[in-house]
Amino acid sequence: MYRTHTCGELRLSDAGKTVTLSGWVQRTRDLGGMTFVDLRDRYGITQLAFNPGSETQQALVAQARTLGREYVVQTVGVVKERESKNRNIPTGDVEIVVQELNILNGAKLPPFTIEEETDGGDELRMKYRYLDLRRPNVRSNFELRHRMAMEVRNYLSQQHFLEVETPVLIKSTPEGARDFVVPSRMSQGEFYALPQSPQTFKQLLMVAGFDRYFQIVKCFRDEDLRADRQPEFTQIDCEMAFVEREDVLNTFEGMAKHLFKSILGKEFNEPFQRMEYDDAMRLYGSDKPDLRFGMPFIELTGTAQGKGFKVFDEAELVVGINAEGCAGWSRKQTDALIDFVKRPQIGSSGIVFVRWTEEGLKSTVDKFYAAEDLQLWAAAAGMQKGDLLCILAGEQHKARKQLNELRLHLGDLLKLRDPNVFKPLWVLNFPLLEQDEATGRWHAMHHPFTSPIPEHAHLLESDPGAVKANAYDLVINGTEIGGGSIRIHDRSMQEAMFRVLGFTDEDARYKFGFLMDAFEYGAPPHGGAAFGFDRWVSLFGGRSDIREFIAFPKNNAGRDTMIDAPSRLDADQLSELGISLIG
Ligand code: AMO
Repeated sequence: MYRTHTCGELRLSDAGKTVTLSGWVQRTRDLGGMTFVDLRDRYGITQLAFNPGSETQQALVAQARTLGREYVVQTVGVVKERESKNRNIPTGDVEIVVQELNILNGAKLPPFTIEEETDGGDELRMKYRYLDLRRPNVRSNFELRHRMAMEVRNYLSQQHFLEVETPVLIKSTPEGARDFVVPSRMSQGEFYALPQSPQTFKQLLMVAGFDRYFQIVKCFRDEDLRADRQPEFTQIDCEMAFVEREDVLNTFEGMAKHLFKSILGKEFNEPFQRMEYDDAMRLYGSDKPDLRFGMPFIELTGTAQGKGFKVFDEAELVVGINAEGCAGWSRKQTDALIDFVKRPQIGSSGIVFVRWTEEGLKSTVDKFYAAEDLQLWAAAAGMQKGDLLCILAGEQHKARKQLNELRLHLGDLLKLRDPNVFKPLWVLNFPLLEQDEATGRWHAMHHPFTSPIPEHAHLLESDPGAVKANAYDLVINGTEIGGGSIRIHDRSMQEAMFRVLGFTDEDARYKFGFLMDAFEYGAPPHGGAAFGFDRWVSLFGGRSDIREFIAFPKNNAGRDTMIDAPSRLDADQLSELGISLIG
């Protein structure tokens, strides 16, 4: 038997017991003739004591001194109360007086320290991820992930959702990203796509009468990566039959509240806040506003134009935010804000500031605006003495996006984005379609299976831009945690949708004939949602990088540096697949 106990288990009440432990050597210390080894496993650390009293003990001490970091050892010994207790660990009252020590495996010196605070950089940690995962704080991210998965399964199962697996080798499902494709050996020249989500399958399960489906499922999207995006990620994917929007929102608000309570001990007794997409864009320049702080946008176009200041006069939109209590910021601080918005990723030309100091209102454009003008702005912005109004101008969408970035940046600088505060929000009534400026083509903002809100259904083909979708997103603290919609469940509307999206009948039939056929065999009204599980876990874990919560993530170039993938195929494999590479 390798062990009778784990390294996190023994307490004072176990004193006198002979035990066997196995684990990794965290560190070895020689102190005044005594040798101590900290033995670590997933459950904790236990101190092993080697006392060079007898001859056999001396041999053990000599053996202990050969142990390197991360050696795998097994030990037999007696549990004893420690003289100097370690209050920082649960096993700190005891140590094991070692009687037997077996080295199960040696270890090379790890390339970084296996401690909470490591000296390893990101690259190195990912290359040796199996060592990184030994660090207790990294491992605890996976304990959190596991507990959340269990709570999701319990909750949904209690609500009669069935977990059903759907295939991974499928046909492309448009979710707005590129597909990863897999060549078929048996049907040469043809390819499977990996699912961007199980969207069409979950709808087919509704046609199949499963009524309530869920799956904690891998999805694959070939898109540009950033902190909250991985090429393969996990969704809590759900679908329900015979539901309206309200039913879906209530069900998943219930799930979110259950997770908040069971995982973080936070109770939400009030319904989650709701906001129309149009209002989110108008007030925060984002469809995922962070509501942990205010600073809503104030439109100043009317009062700002016509005074000879070209930047404002020529702008489609003049819009500001009030940074409370920042009137005293130094020139250096406000210049840093200007540098921030001028960064190429943001692309604004600058900021106009209005300060309300002891001397009254003072702006960086006093040449053009009289005190009364500034007062109008201050009143519109709800400014108080001590506040700083920051104003951007430009084309509407751009100016709003830029001000959103500035608002979030100010939120960070002013420490208004506390990771322990949670502000969930449903964003409702997204536009159904977006038009590509260059080509004029319409794209589904969510996906092509989303239905219009009932009162807009008749506008689908005549005025697509005006149609609102029966879609919703769950946003928490400025992160899109999930989204979904009530679906189209009738063939003719689905066909109309494909027409608006520019699919020929033939194309639509080739790609989605199976779904449209299914709609002719008694498809119930249905709707659902999917939640980014990695994002949700990282939100609860207080970190913004989802890679910390994915055991074996990819880097920003989409590579797994540990296994070195993607990698080349050999010539035989390629020829079996009927593939020849260009160049
Ligand atoms: P959507 O595309 O909005 O909807 O995805 C649902 C949620 O999945 C998460 N997510 C991601 N997480 C990590 N890395 C990514 N690359 C990534 N892409 C998306 C987000 C997002 O809110 N089939 C629909 C859902 C439905 O209509 O029911 C869908 O997939 O948190």
